[in-house]
Amino acid sequence: MSVSAKACSSVVPFDIRPLSDVMGGEVEGFDLSTLSSVCERTDFLSEVCRNGLLVFHDQNLSAQQFGELSRFCGELEFHVLDQYRLEEVPEIYVISNIVENGKSVGNPKDGFGWHTDQSYLHRPTAYTLLHGVETPAEGADTLFASTEEAYGQLDPELKARIDGMKAVHSYVYMRTGNADYMRDNGVKSELTAAQREQVPDVVHPLVRTHPLTGRKSLYLGGDCIVRIEGMEYEESRALLDTLFAAVLAPANQIALKWRPGDVVIWDNRTTMHSATDYDRERYRRLIWRTSVKGEVPT
Ligand SMILES: [Fe+2]
Repeated sequence: MSVSAKACSSVVPFDIRPLSDVMGGEVEGFDLSTLSSVCERTDFLSEVCRNGLLVFHDQNLSAQQFGELSRFCGELEFHVLDQYRLEEVPEIYVISNIVENGKSVGNPKDGFGWHTDQSYLHRPTAYTLLHGVETPAEGADTLFASTEEAYGQLDPELKARIDGMKAVHSYVYMRTGNADYMRDNGVKSELTAAQREQVPDVVHPLVRTHPLTGRKSLYLGGDCIVRIEGMEYEESRALLDTLFAAVLAPANQIALKWRPGDVVIWDNRTTMHSATDYDRERYRRLIWRTSVKGEVPT
């Protein structure tokens, strides 16, 4: 299943150049602030789903414009870490190493370790949008891997074994009990009681069917996945490790190198991603993020 085959039915008002044979596309010379007036939402989102992710270069949107673009894509959700919301457009969650008046303007370290966004919610994020307002000249790549390609490559026995399995996803476990996450993202237990209440543990199928394309993909969440339901921890861990390895096969990955002004939108139902680090003393990085609410995975 090549990207060119996925992109052939496009009715969107821009040309897409494939980023790899597996997934992803990039767009030059299209102004996303005009999107809602020249494109149907369903056509745009179908193209995102077909490619897994799209990057639009040279956008430089205002916060209001980025908020409008995000709302065009669907119902937005507010991040549980409310201290990093942008004041003028609170649906925007800020990721940044910039400190102003002694205060971080955003979460200084977020998104490290492979994951899909907010799988710990009952209705996890369908689409994530990022706007690179300031991006380092080197480093800070975002890595992506296709969970749809990975599922397709599993041998039939393994597919049959995991059919119908469910896994427990827990935000509280990730932030307060998962040593790997806390090491990678530099956070300790810092959730308020109100924040904990917003994110009770949830159970999702290990294999989900895409609501628009009907195709199957692995749904592993990432650092918030605790175990497979009804299975001993060690056996569960071994199986999850096998599935993670399938997703993260090098041929199944791409590295997105940011340019200032880029807007990236991806489908969390068929991809996983991971941040990479950069020289925080040398470079400023300011990323705006919005999350479009998805459906209950089935
Ligand atoms: Fe993420």
